Parts: sequence; structure tokens; C-alpha cells
Amino acid sequence: MTLDFQAILDAIHKDAIIKKNKGIVASYIPELANISDQNFGIHLRTSDNKEYASGDYSVPFSIQSVSKVLALAKAISISNQSIWKRVDVEPSGNPFNELSLLELENGIPRNPLINAGAIVIADILISNLENPKKDFLKFVRTLANDDSISYNKQVALSEKVTGFKNYAAANLLKSFGNLHNDVEDVLDFYFHQCSIEMNCSQLSKAFFLFANKGKCMLNKTHITESQAKRINAIMLTCGFYDEAGEFAFEVGLPGKSGVGGGIVALLPDHFVITTWSPGLNKKGNSLLGMQALERFTTKTKLSIF
Ligand code: DON
Repeated sequence: MTLDFQAILDAIHKDAIIKKNKGIVASYIPELANISDQNFGIHLRTSDNKEYASGDYSVPFSIQSVSKVLALAKAISISNQSIWKRVDVEPSGNPFNELSLLELENGIPRNPLINAGAIVIADILISNLENPKKDFLKFVRTLANDDSISYNKQVALSEKVTGFKNYAAANLLKSFGNLHNDVEDVLDFYFHQCSIEMNCSQLSKAFFLFANKGKCMLNKTHITESQAKRINAIMLTCGFYDEAGEFAFEVGLPGKSGVGGGIVALLPDHFVITTWSPGLNKKGNSLLGMQALERFTTKTKLSIF
């Protein structure tokens, strides 16, 4: 049976926009609170480079924690083995900004996708990149094959002035000797990384390497096949914090969410799919995005399970 992807995405979009409960737009980063919860975009890129999309798929949004996967890929491409002495690969079962485990576990974050783990990855990138912010942005632009992608400095600043928990995480990491650079420098990089703006179409392109054994859209190798496999495993087990089990249960794909309302998910060797709907559920994941992806994998029967 051939699947009519365009009809499936259109039906998902149509259903989503009439939903009354759209979740709550994040406001703990004040700049994000200005985004309308009426936005909904969905974009699919298949392994044979076909694209299907519906709704607000070309409107840029703040990728926030989705960036953690791209930062991890860059760090892994630079210093693979040494990372795992400083960050674990276990699901945390806790919210993304929870700090209690970090204290109990001697400053080794559970995984690179919770905030504390991503801050350690930011530290590794700062130690290894000549021009950290410039070089990281270049990496993201190369993956997406799009030089228009940029940081949103207002969002980065907005997070800096309210980022008390991230300051607490970075200071705790520093006290355990698991942060090598200055707290201010690491957080400046981390807040910028999270502030990158992309649309659904650009994200589907940037994540293509994870569905394509480490090769980006232009067939250039950025990470090995084994590294892509490991990053997908981390996305599956840790990509949705204390809702990772629910996402695997409902959707059945490795993926990553951000508090800007984006979700990217993928089926290796088949496709990357991105949704954007800014309203979040209680766990900080896009409410309609998760529902849309559940419908997509149920309708198409395309999941890893
Ligand atoms: O550090 C923060 O809190 C944000 N920059 C990112 C959090 C986030 O996106 C969590 N995702 N669901």
C-alpha cells in the first residue's frame, strides 16, 4: 500500500487547529510567552528526499532543547569517548531542570539531554571549538544546508536574566569539577544554542543525518553510523524527560522536544518528521505535537516497534 503522506499531514493539521485544549505556552523564558498558541506546523522529509508539509511549517520558532541533540552530535564528532566519563546515558525520569539527582550522583548528569547534561556538553564544545558560538552555528547551518539560520539574541538574553536554575546547575557542576570553563561563558553558549530559530522544514533537514547513518542531506559524513545509532538511543530514552516512556508508548520514535513547542522525531532509513505547536503539556512537551505524531505513526504504521 502506498501512503499518501500529504493527505495524512493535511488531516492531522486540520484536526489539530480545531482542538480547544492547545496546552500552555512557556513563560518562564519571558520572550517565549509572546508566541501565539494558534501556530501549528508539520513537516516530513523522507529518506529519498521527498518533502511533505502542512500548516505553519515555514515559520521560525525557538528550538530550545531540540538544540541539545545537535550540540551532542558536534561534541561526539570531536571527542567521542571522553564525553561518557562526564555525562551518563540513563533516563532521568525527572523534569528537564531537576537538580536533586545531580547532587546525589556527584555532579554527573543522568544524560546529555537534560539541562545539566547539556551544560556539560556546552562546556566540552567551548573547550574544543576555536570560536564556539560561530562554529556551532556554522555546524547547524551546514546540516540544514541553510545559511539563514541564526541565534535570537533577545531570547538568549531573556533566558539569561531568568535562568536561575541553569546557573544553579552550572555552579553545582563546577563544584564537582565537572565544568572546566567559567560558568558565565558556558551559560552564554548554552543560552545562545537554545535561542536558535528554525522552522519545521529546516529542522527536518538538520536532523536528517540521524536517519541517514550519520550523513547529512548533502551526503557528507558528520558522525559515524554507530554514533548516529547511539544518539538515536539517547533520544528515545531521554528526549522527553519524565515523558520519554509516554512518547515511546504513544509514538514509538526517537525524538526531541523543546519548550518553544518543537518536536523532531525520526525513523532511521525512512524519514524525519518535525512538528511545531507552542502550547505545552504539564511535562513541558508540545501537547498537540505529541498528539500529531501519535496519529502519524498510528496511521502509517511507521515506528521502530
Ligand atoms: O534551559 C532551559 O530551560 C531552556 N533553554 C530549554 C528547556 C527545554 O527546551 C526543555 N524542553 N522541553
